Amino acid sequence: MAQQCVVDKVLFNRPDFSHRELQYLRECLGGGDLAGDGSFTGRCRSWLEGQLGATVLLTHSCTAALEMAAMLTVKAGDEVIMPSFTFVSTANAFVLRGATPVFIDIRRDTLNIDENLIEAAVTERTRAIVPVHYAGVSCAMEPIMAIATKNGVAVVEDAAQGYLAHWKGRPLGTMGSLGTLSFHQSKNIVSGEGGALILNDSAFEGRAHILREKGTNRTEFFRGKVDKYEWLDIGSSYLPSDLIAAVLLAQLEVANEITAKRLRLWARYHQGLSEAERSGVLRRPVTPEEAHHNGHIYYLVFDSNKLREQARLALLKIGIEAYTHYVPLHSAPAGRRYGRVAGQMTVTDRVAATMLRLPIHGSMTEEHIDKVINAVTQVWRASARTYA
Ligand SMILES: Cc1ncc(COP(=O)(O)O)c(C=O)c1O
Repeated sequence: MAQQCVVDKVLFNRPDFSHRELQYLRECLGGGDLAGDGSFTGRCRSWLEGQLGATVLLTHSCTAALEMAAMLTVKAGDEVIMPSFTFVSTANAFVLRGATPVFIDIRRDTLNIDENLIEAAVTERTRAIVPVHYAGVSCAMEPIMAIATKNGVAVVEDAAQGYLAHWKGRPLGTMGSLGTLSFHQSKNIVSGEGGALILNDSAFEGRAHILREKGTNRTEFFRGKVDKYEWLDIGSSYLPSDLIAAVLLAQLEVANEITAKRLRLWARYHQGLSEAERSGVLRRPVTPEEAHHNGHIYYLVFDSNKLREQARLALLKIGIEAYTHYVPLHSAPAGRRYGRVAGQMTVTDRVAATMLRLPIHGSMTEEHIDKVINAVTQVWRASARTYA
């Protein structure tokens, strides 16, 4: 499974392939059935449904799954509460339906939506809350679900980064009304592009199939339930090719091993950077007791933007790729045009300016991790001396 990193260079991310991707691709090509909902799609779907205990529709991306979730939950003029510290698709999916994203601040510890700020942002136009499980660390789901139930609004979990992560033993994406997963190349388990919509409420099922099949009842036609299919609703083509599903199935079969390796590397960073945190110039990720994460991201939040940049450039200089993350949506041009802010964005703005993601993927060895830790250590020690 492991491919070594290019000597001396530590790449930020790299897919972790097994030996089965090529075998399954050959089988798929050999069978000649490359369109959506072929046999590999069916096998992925059964695999995920068995694991998640919910109905799962494979999509060509998490973006597609979010767009479907938006079609299922909102209409023009509605409002959707979400963090600003997230990927554009979280908001764009709802904007495409004419809804307004209402951005609220994140928690300082997990960088997830601050559940204590949600209620104040609810208006009579609110139709959904979108918790984004950043870095595969769960949002506090009980209070979020309680606010949603009290106000009669849907919860769409953006679990793009959360495959094989849990909250109190429940898989991320299975607690809200709907959940979305990503299998994009940047994620732990990959099919190049790829995603899934998790339907936790059977009321969505009939329409979800129609939206995914260009607004038609083609799924029912293929199942022999109708003798012709026709245009019934809005929709688009959200199916992945069966070639994508062939790659995904090979990945799903080794997902536990891939995740275990990432968790080991994550733990090594965490241990190796504990002294840095004690120095007071940076802090490490926080995982609530109830959350079981999947080692998707290891990040540091520095004391200042200056120190973050020093660390980033020091790593880059010795061939270690480390990246900042989201430009907060509320401050991006489209976020200002299509969304609005509820409350202060203090934590979001600060985190965006001071956090750095370190490389983590299955091709890395413990030596690579130690090299990164040493480089970060040199930076914080130098800065601690400056402060002293
Ligand atoms: C939080 C979040 N939501 C949605 C997406 C979109 O995923 P995809 O690239 O599969 O469309 C991403 C991708 O990085 C993400 O991080």
